Amino acid sequence: MFKKVFEYAGPHKKDLYSATFIVLLSVLMGVLPFVLAYQVISPLIMRETAGSGYVSLRVIGVLICLILQAVLYGWGLNVSHKAAYNTLLRLRTALQKRFESLPLGFIQDKGTGTIKKLFVDDVDSLEVLLAHSLPEGIANLMIPLAIYIAMFFIDWKLALLSLASIPVSFAAMMIMYSVGMKKMGPYYMAGQKMNNTIIEYINGMEVVKVFNKDAESYERFRRDISNYRDCTLGWYKASWPWMAVYSSLLPCTVILTLPLGAWFVLSGYSTLPNLILILCLSLSIGIPLLKSLGFLPTMPQLNYKISALEQVLETAPLKQTEDTFHGKSLDICFDHITFGYEKAQPGPDGKPVVTMDEVITDVSFTVKAGQKTALVGESGSGKSTLAKLLIHYYDPQKGSISIGGQKLTEMSLEALNDLISYVAQDQYLFNTSLLENIRMGRPGATDEEVLQAAEKAQCMEFLEKLPQGIRSMAGDAGKMLSGGQRQRISLARAILKNAPIIVLDEATAYADPENEEKMEAAIAELVKGKTLFVIAHKLPAIMNADQICVIEHGKLAATGTHQELLKTCGEYQKLWRAAQVSAEWKVNTIKEGK
Ligand SMILES: Nc1ncnc2c1ncn2[C@@H]1O[C@H](COP(=O)(O)OP(=O)(O)OP(=O)(O)O)[C@@H](O)[C@H]1O
Ligand SMILES: [Mg+2]
Repeated sequence: MFKKVFEYAGPHKKDLYSATFIVLLSVLMGVLPFVLAYQVISPLIMRETAGSGYVSLRVIGVLICLILQAVLYGWGLNVSHKAAYNTLLRLRTALQKRFESLPLGFIQDKGTGTIKKLFVDDVDSLEVLLAHSLPEGIANLMIPLAIYIAMFFIDWKLALLSLASIPVSFAAMMIMYSVGMKKMGPYYMAGQKMNNTIIEYINGMEVVKVFNKDAESYERFRRDISNYRDCTLGWYKASWPWMAVYSSLLPCTVILTLPLGAWFVLSGYSTLPNLILILCLSLSIGIPLLKSLGFLPTMPQLNYKISALEQVLETAPLKQTEDTFHGKSLDICFDHITFGYEKAQPGPDGKPVVTMDEVITDVSFTVKAGQKTALVGESGSGKSTLAKLLIHYYDPQKGSISIGGQKLTEMSLEALNDLISYVAQDQYLFNTSLLENIRMGRPGATDEEVLQAAEKAQCMEFLEKLPQGIRSMAGDAGKMLSGGQRQRISLARAILKNAPIIVLDEATAYADPENEEKMEAAIAELVKGKTLFVIAHKLPAIMNADQICVIEHGKLAATGTHQELLKTCGEYQKLWRAAQVSAEWKVNTIKEGK
C-alpha cells in the first residue's frame, strides 16, 4: 500500500531508516528504567541487602535514560520530518508534471476543489505516515516484540499471561480497520464534493446574486457540508467502539500476570524475582504498544488518499508527440470514435474505482476542408463531446481523429492549437483586461490588430459603453456583459488567431434577436474561407451547410445536406419540426407584442 509513496522518498529513504533507528533507541531508553526499577525493587522484596551506592546509581541511570529518551525522540522526529517534507515536495512535483501531461478535459472534470485537495490536503496527510507512523510505529512495535521474546526466555508461563490481552485487542483492531475501510469511500468522496462545492459557491457568488439563486445555491452548499459531517460521524461511529476496546485492553498487560502470577509463585511454578521482572517489563511495554497501534485508525484514511493520488499518477497522459503538423490537407476524419467520460466512485472495499459512461459510440465522418459541416442533435446527444475530442481535450477510448491524414496523437498539442480556433459553448474570460483577453488569440498582436478583431466581432458597440472601454477588466466588465457579448469577445479572440479550422459550439441561451444578428455577423467574419465545424442549436442557421451530421444518443444517425436529410432522416425531421414550432412561437409572441 505504501510502496508507491515510499518510492517518492528517493534519496531521503536513508533518512527515514535513520529516523526509525533513532526513535527505536529512544523507545529503548523508555523501557530501561523499568529494568532498573526491578533491580531496586527485587532486593527489597527478597530482603537482600543493597548499598545506597547501588540504589543511587540506578536512580541516576533512570534519569539519564529519561533525558536520552527525550533527546533521541526529538532528534529522530527531526530527521523523519526532514525526510517527510522532502518526499512531499518530490510527490507534489511529480503530480504537477503528471498534470501537465494529462488531458485538459480530465483536469477540468476533476474540479478545482478536488485538485486542491489532492495537491494540498492529501499530500499533506502523508506527513503523518512518513514523519510519525513509520518511524514511531515501527520503533514502538519492535521494542515490545523484543521484550516479549526476552520474557519467554525468563519465564514462558508468566510471559504467556502478559500476552493474554493481545488477541482480543488485536481482533478489535482488525474489526475497526475493516469497518473504517468500508466507510472511507463515501467519506472521502463527500470531502471532495464539499471542496468542489465550496469553491464553486465562492466563485459563483456573483452569478448566484445576479440570478437570485441564493437559496438554491446555499441549499446545495448546506447539503454537501451536512453530508460530509454525516459521513465523518458515520466513520467515527463505526470505529469508536472498537477503538475503545483495544485502547483500554492493550495496555493492561498485567491484568492476568498479577493475580495468576502470584498464584504461580505460591504454588512453586514460578519464582518471585521472575514475577517482579515480568511485571516490570509488562508495565514497560504498554505505552509503546499503544503508541505503535495508535496510528492504525488513520490507516484506512491514508490508504484511501494514497489510492486517490496513485490514480492520478497512473492516469494515462494525453497521447501526443513533439511533431509539427504535416498533414496533406485540412480534411478532418473521425474514424470509428468511441468515447466515455471516466468517473471515480468508491468500490466495494472503499477504494476508488474508475467507471466509464459511454457517450459516443462508433462515430465516423469526414469534415471536408474549406466546407461548412454542422452537427445537430438533441441536447445531451454528444455534440460538444465530439468537438472536445477534435480539440484533443480527451483521447477517445477507440478510434482516431486525423487532419489531412495525420492523427491528433501524432502531433503536439501546440501544433493542433495553431490549426484550430475553438469557440466554446460557455465562455471563460480570464481576469485581465478585455484587450488582453482578445489578445490571447495571438499573443504577438498589436493593440491596433486587437481593436480590428474586436470591431469585426461586433464588440465595439458594447465595449465603448464600458467606463474604460476595451481596457476594462474582464472581472468588472463580466458583470455588465451578456452571455452573447462574452461569446463575441471570444469570437474576436478567434478572429485574431486566424486559424484555418474553426470549431464553433453555438450558444443557445442568447436568443434575443439583436444579439443573434450581431453574433451571425461576427461568425460570418470569422469563418470566411475557413474549414468550419459548427454545432448548431438553431437549424435554420445551418440549412446552407455543405454537410450536416445528425447525432442521436451518441451515434451518427445520418449525414447529408438539409434537403437530403429532410427526406431520409427521421431524427432530422423531428429536429426540424421542433425548430419550426419554436420559430412560429417566436413570430406569434412578437405579433402579440409580448
Ligand atoms: N465532463 C463530463 N463528465 C461526464 N459526463 C459528461 C461531461 N460532459 C458531458 N457529459 C455527458 O455526456 C453526454 C453528452 O454531452 P454533450 O455535452 O456532448 O451533449 P450536447 O449534445 O453538446 O448537448 P447540448 O446540446 O445540451 O449542448 C451527456 O449525457 C452529458 O451529461
Ligand atoms: Mg453541447
